Amino acid sequence: MDLETIEREAVARLQSVGSLQELEQFRIEYLGKKGKVTSLLKDLKNIPPEERPVFGKRVNELKEKIERLFETKREELQKLAEREAQERLRVDVSIPGARRKVGHTHPISKVLEEIERIFVSMGFDVVEGPEIETTWHNFDALNTPEWHPARDEHDSFYITKDLLLRTHTSPVQIRTMLERKPPIAIISPGRVYRRDYDATHLPMFHQVEGLHVDRDLSVAHLKFTLEEFARRMFGEKTKIRLRPSFFPFTEPSFEVDVFLPSHGWLEILGAGMVDPNVFLNVGYDPEEWTGYAFGMGVERIAMIKYGITDIREFVRNDVRFLSSY
Ligand code: PHE
Repeated sequence: MDLETIEREAVARLQSVGSLQELEQFRIEYLGKKGKVTSLLKDLKNIPPEERPVFGKRVNELKEKIERLFETKREELQKLAEREAQERLRVDVSIPGARRKVGHTHPISKVLEEIERIFVSMGFDVVEGPEIETTWHNFDALNTPEWHPARDEHDSFYITKDLLLRTHTSPVQIRTMLERKPPIAIISPGRVYRRDYDATHLPMFHQVEGLHVDRDLSVAHLKFTLEEFARRMFGEKTKIRLRPSFFPFTEPSFEVDVFLPSHGWLEILGAGMVDPNVFLNVGYDPEEWTGYAFGMGVERIAMIKYGITDIREFVRNDVRFLSSY
């Protein structure tokens, strides 16, 4: 093929090249080792010796010309590719944003807040205690003897012989009395731990402890306070009743039930008058000071209030359940 034809062909081909891939094809076809221009030099031996310098020179000129055209095309295509890449990265600020779903308070937190609000309005302070407790705070100081079933490893989560995950919020009574001087009126919300797991028990659940220490407190004060709480929590007409019970740290002790027309009598908490031995354990004179204490299960109250039948719903993290409260 003669030089002019190759040149014309090459220029036309290059014009139709639309991508860097096509350009590479072109390069191989014309400028590659077996390319059309390179092959021309191989024809040199078929040309009379005296014409060879002129022909050689012309082939080289052609090669340079095609290389120049190739380079120009390459730059052009590269710029185009860069512009396209930039275009893809461009942010269209006019597109409406993706709406994010906003979560809301867990039903247990909601009930906790409500319980706190009611007691704070009656003059109780809110205090907190550690979830890892000493056996002394959790049991001994609360007049709970070594042989008590709650102290059993089968019922509680021990960390060492003397440390465990608190089984109730009552140790906060001890910590508060050691820290403050009476009169004292506190509630203490928080997590507690027991080795239980079924439709009505979780190994981790919430309690709110209450403690009121002053002179001349009686069961009447205890009853009034809890009745007031029940009315505000479950409605004006709610009645409560006290049934005799036993706790090592209160004497007398009661189980407290609320009456809801829809459910009948339901047990919601344990309570009693602070046992004189507990006062002695924190250095209070039981002749001078009196007190009442109570402890309620928050999950239980939430279940009653919202009609939930399986306590495990609270920890399943199913948004359909959570968003209906
Ligand atoms: N701590 C008791 C429990 O976990 C409840 C309670 C608290 C009872 C205070 C009496 C006084 O069952």
